[in-house]
This record gives sequence, C-alpha cells and structure tokens, in this order.
Amino acid sequence: MSLLITGGTGYIGSHTVVELQALADDQDIVIVDDLSNSSTKVLDRIKKITGKTVTFIKADICDYDAMNAVFEQHDIDAVIHFAGHKAVGESSEKPLSYYYNNVSGTVILLRVMAEHKVKNLVFSSSATVYGDNVSPLNEKMTTSATNPYGQTKLMIEHILFDLAKSDSDWSIACLRYFNPIGAHNSGLIGENPNGIPNNLLPYVAQVAVGRLAQLQVFGDDYDTVDGTGVRDYIHVVDLAQGHVKALQNLNKISGCKAINLGTGNGTSVLEIVNTFKEISGQDIPYKIVPRRAGDLAAVYANADLANELLGWQATRNLHTMISDTWRWQSENPQGF
Ligand code: NAD
Ligand code: WQD
Repeated sequence: MSLLITGGTGYIGSHTVVELQALADDQDIVIVDDLSNSSTKVLDRIKKITGKTVTFIKADICDYDAMNAVFEQHDIDAVIHFAGHKAVGESSEKPLSYYYNNVSGTVILLRVMAEHKVKNLVFSSSATVYGDNVSPLNEKMTTSATNPYGQTKLMIEHILFDLAKSDSDWSIACLRYFNPIGAHNSGLIGENPNGIPNNLLPYVAQVAVGRLAQLQVFGDDYDTVDGTGVRDYIHVVDLAQGHVKALQNLNKISGCKAINLGTGNGTSVLEIVNTFKEISGQDIPYKIVPRRAGDLAAVYANADLANELLGWQATRNLHTMISDTWRWQSENPQGF
C-alpha cells in the first residue's frame, strides 16, 4: 500500500514526509508536486535525514490524466493533500489562478480518488477560514474568508463536507493550521519562500541573515500585550506529527471533520523579534509602520479537539521554533 502526498516537496509536506518515514510500518510514499514552489533538492535532503527514498512524480494536480496515471500505477490507500498556492496578496492579484489551482485541482484529485475508490483524505486547511471571529477559535464557529486564498480553503472545505455527506465511505480530516514556523532540527529542510517573504518568520530570518535590511512591523496600536499582532505559531514538526496522527485516526472519523492544529498560545510580533535576536545573536532592525489591511489583532486556537480526537498536542515551545528556524536559515542562507 502507498500513501500519496500532494505538494510533498513543499515546506509542510517535506516535514510530514520525514515524520511518516520514521514510522515502523514502512508504507511506500509517493509525492506528486509540480515544483511551482519547491525544489527536487528537498528529496535529497529527506533521504539524508531518513535514509529512505520516496517515489517522486512531477505532475500538476489539475492534470486529470497525470493524476489518473498515478493511481493506476500505485496502490494508493490514502492521500495527504498539501498542493496549492498560498500567498494571500498574490491571490487578490491573480484570483483565477488561485481558484483554478486550489479548487479545480482539488476537485480533479477528488474525482480521481473516487474513481479509484480511495476515500481516505487529510486536507491542509487554514485558520484563515475563521474570518474575524474572536480568539480562541474553535471548530464550531462560523466560517468566512476575506481574500481569494482564504475563499479557496473555504470552498474546498464545503466541497469536502458535501462529498462526505453524499457517500459515507469517505473519511476526511480537514486540518486547520495556525501559523507554522520552525524547521527540522537537522537544519536540512525548512521554509524556502520565493522572492520577498509574505510571512513574519521567514522575513525576520532573512533580516537576521543579512538578506533583507529591515523588518516592517505592521502596527503597534492593537489591543494586545505590546500593541503588535498576536498569532498562534506552531512548530512545523508538531504540525507534521499532527498529520501522522490524523492519518492513523482516520478510521475514527466518519464523514468530514474540521480540526484545529495550533498550540492555543499567542505570541506578539515584538516577542518574536526579541526572541529571534536573543537566539541568533544578530541585530534585527525594524520599523513600526501602519497596520496591514485585513490583519486581526489576535488569532489563536482552541486546540482541544485535536487532543480529544487524535491524541495530539503541540510539544515544541517558541525557543525551539526559533532556534530551529535560525539553524535552517543560517546554514542555508539562500535556501535550497
Ligand atoms: P508550499 O508552497 O511550501 O507547499 C505547497 C507545494 O504544493 C509546493 O511544493 C508546490 O510546488 C506544490 N503545488 C502547488 N500547486 C500545485 C499543483 N497544482 N500541483 C502539484 N503541486 C502543486 O506551502 P506550505 O506552507 O507547505 O503549505 C502546504 C499547504 O498548507 C497549502 O495548501 C497551504 O495553503 C496550507 N497552509 C499553509 C500555511 C502556512 O502558513 N504555511 C497555513 C495554513 C495552511
Ligand atoms: C503574522 C503577524 C502581521 C509580516 C498568514 C495568512 C494565513 C496563513 C498564515 C495560510 C501579523 C505581522 C507580518 C511582516 C509584520 N496562511 N507581520 N511584518 O497574517 O497570521 O497569516 O499566514 O493559510 O492565511 O493570512 O501570518 O506571518 O503574515 O503575520 O509585522 O513583514 O506578523 O501583521 O500580526 P498571518 P503572517
């Protein structure tokens, strides 16, 4: 039996592959990725960490024939679906590209899965589907989205709920990630954004390593501990282990279940900057600028359901998250 990982050479996918390969059951892993936001160098790094190889297929999930061939050639029994575009700003500039890639691509994947009677799925959703609900955010809250990227996640969630309602053979874990940061503690894999990073941690890391001159802190007049935005940062290895747990507990899920993967704790932008400075020993120049449109003051999870249902909770603290980010960034200043 094989496990299909779409988007498996990406940031979260690669860390999940490493955790899956650490399992004793030795299930074969097939990665499908079109390399639109990743590199095949990741495959060598995964092999260095685990000593094991994976099957890699360069394909676009929007290509029905290519996806069908994957299922014809491999005995897939479950899928973890990471593939998608994820840049919020870019999604407003290129909405069609986001709806096509993320939503149409997922529909094609689901169609091929259904045709091959593969009905076990773990999906990468996002806390962005909570819209402007007040934190702590729990899975019973209403959902909404404020940008095309978020809409794609919400639309896919609706598709998954409808699909599971129509056919009770489906077991789907819709994992709503909070803010993944950090890297594998080997320093061999980590987040490698194209161009100027959109997210806080890769931006801070690139300032620390000298690739960028100065961080802009988007607002210091929020009602938070120090006025800067608060988020629920979660170590990517904890997140990866959450996927392993979700996969192992899919049989407990009948239908489609939304589950938060977060720590339940909030950290401000300045707390991140100061901790990064302390751990890296580097100066991190920053300037306070106006709030970024669409940002909320504080976003963090109620992470109880993941614990109840999957027996999972995050274990790595902020110090580990930032030490591991720094090791990855300082040992790979230009990424892969
Ligand atoms: P990433 O860009 O590093 O990984 C995504 C991978 O999917 C990349 O390797 C890319 O090449 C591939 N891909 C994109 N479109 C594809 C297509 N049509 N066919 C095949 N491969 C394709 O991103 P990530 O941070 O690892 O995110 C993984 C998933 O988690 C995404 O769906 C993202 O929306 C979701 N997510 C990410 C975050 C975050 O902050 N990183 C938060 C919540 C949810
Ligand atoms: C974190 C905090 C910023 C950059 C985004 C997506 C969300 C999800 C995760 C995928 C905020 C502040 C940031 C900078 C700053 N992705 N900041 N200067 O906004 O919580 O979520 O990524 O699903 O959909 O919207 O994360 O890392 O962009 O920002 O001051 O240069 O850092 O204002 O308070 P966010 P982020």
